Amino acid sequence: MSDSSFDLVVIGGGPGGYVAAIRAAQLGLSVAIVEKRPTLGGTCLNVGCIPSKALLTASHHYHTAAHGLGAFGVKVAGVELDLPAMMAHKDKVVADNTKGIDFLLKKNKIARILGAGSLAGDGRVTVTAPDGAVSTLTARAIVLATGSEVTPLPGLTIDEEVFVSSTGALALPNVPKRLVVIGGGVIGLELGTVWGRLGAEVTVVEYLDRILPFHDLDVSKTMTRLLGQQGMSFKLATKVLAGERKGDGAVLTLEPAAGGAAETLDADVVLVAIGRRPFVEGLGLETVGIERTARGFVKIDGSFRTNVPGVYAIGDVVGGAMLAHKAEDEGVALAEILAGQHGHVNYEAIPSVVYTWPEVASVGRTEEQLKEAGTAYTVGKFPFLANGRARSMNDTDGFVKILADAATDQVLGAHIIGPNAGDLIAEIVLAIEFGAAAEDIARTCHAHPTLSETVKEAALAANGRALHV
Ligand code: FAD
Ligand code: NAI
Repeated sequence: MSDSSFDLVVIGGGPGGYVAAIRAAQLGLSVAIVEKRPTLGGTCLNVGCIPSKALLTASHHYHTAAHGLGAFGVKVAGVELDLPAMMAHKDKVVADNTKGIDFLLKKNKIARILGAGSLAGDGRVTVTAPDGAVSTLTARAIVLATGSEVTPLPGLTIDEEVFVSSTGALALPNVPKRLVVIGGGVIGLELGTVWGRLGAEVTVVEYLDRILPFHDLDVSKTMTRLLGQQGMSFKLATKVLAGERKGDGAVLTLEPAAGGAAETLDADVVLVAIGRRPFVEGLGLETVGIERTARGFVKIDGSFRTNVPGVYAIGDVVGGAMLAHKAEDEGVALAEILAGQHGHVNYEAIPSVVYTWPEVASVGRTEEQLKEAGTAYTVGKFPFLANGRARSMNDTDGFVKILADAATDQVLGAHIIGPNAGDLIAEIVLAIEFGAAAEDIARTCHAHPTLSETVKEAALAANGRALHV
């Protein structure tokens, strides 16, 4: 047993935890970070955001080379997939990024402690190292940033071979002939897209009557059509009753969500992507009496405090948008609060991006939410088809839709489907952060010819004066 004392001990080295640690160190606190994985960066860098984007980019290049360059007058013969090389690219990107976090911790003089952390009460954290050795850290403040794990589906067992989670789907050894994705959310569509581009027949089974149920309905409908054109099939309003191994693959038993005749669906690989749940195993929450919500998330107040003094929580483990940048912003805000400043997160201005092609990006309210709240709003919509740059890129699918308050013109939400939507949304996030009106965006000069002109035109349209439609 050894003892060490810090101002702050963070449990979990993902985007929430490592960013909280860096910001706290910048503000002069002594900080230790406890992470049980050998590499830092959490779900996002190891098995989430980064490897999925590496494969999305690589598969997009493959698909474009094989099918998309002829229209530009570029003839490419003999395009072949080298899946091991594509996976090696992904692994290298992950390794480079996770090593980068080691560098950042060293630079900021943060103690990196390898092992599983557990709350032991009175400001103490016990750490069990991979070799079983136990040590104790003491801290003025402890931050729980232990993230999330895949939600299991009753009736089937994830073996990461035939029934895979996102982690298995990021490392399949071969392109499956038939991939069935359970869950038409972000993971299902992104990883379904990867394998679809590489040649798999992809069927998405979704319990609700629409994909991307947390997005604006316009977005869900348009994406169903566009992904359908790319070859993805959808079984909406359908529930999975059971899944079993059959030969080298699997068979699923499905039923309409509202009840009715059951049917079976064969697959070579089944991806379970029905959401994620908080990860708190072995964390000792019960030891110190930390309260949780009905859905199992660690309960916090507006300043990230749990019910136990000195213990705070951020990121996926507290729920809300389960996104890396939300976890990071909470990490920064909490570190600032712990250093006596006024850290704050504006939850109305958190973008959400789906990295399919075209991309989907949203921020703020959806039309359905505004209707439900009885808010009078205006809609400004502009299609990429009417944008010169999008035409030159042959990327004309989608639109920018801006929702503004009917009385004040303040921007309340935006929903984009289109090329580089994930980058284009940043301007509207900033507008929401600054409390800007649609007219503020409309009167801002945008370079020509750029995709960003679609945002300006949608803002003009919200005031009834788009120029190019
Ligand atoms: P995590 O990143 O999950 O990190 C928690 C860390 O805590 C883990 O490393 C874990 O090993 C460690 N830990 C847990 N318990 C203990 C313990 N007791 N002791 C020590 N260590 C412990 N978000 C985006 O914004 N953009 C994306 O493009 C995106 N893509 C994704 C793709 C996939 C396939 C998945 C699964 C997720 C994706 N996400 C994306 C979500 C994103 O990964 C999470 O929102 C983010 O990682 C949450 O950060 P966190 O710090 O809260 O938790
Ligand atoms: P999700 O919440 O995005 O989607 C889950 C989908 O599964 C929903 O459409 C839901 O209706 C459906 N579903 C739930 N139970 C079902 C059942 N029994 N049968 C069929 N369908 C069912 O969750 P997902 O895709 O697993 O992603 C988890 C989290 O990871 C998300 O919260 C997301 O924010 C994050 N993530 C973010 C990414 C990004 O920002 N680009 C990429 C990937 C993940």
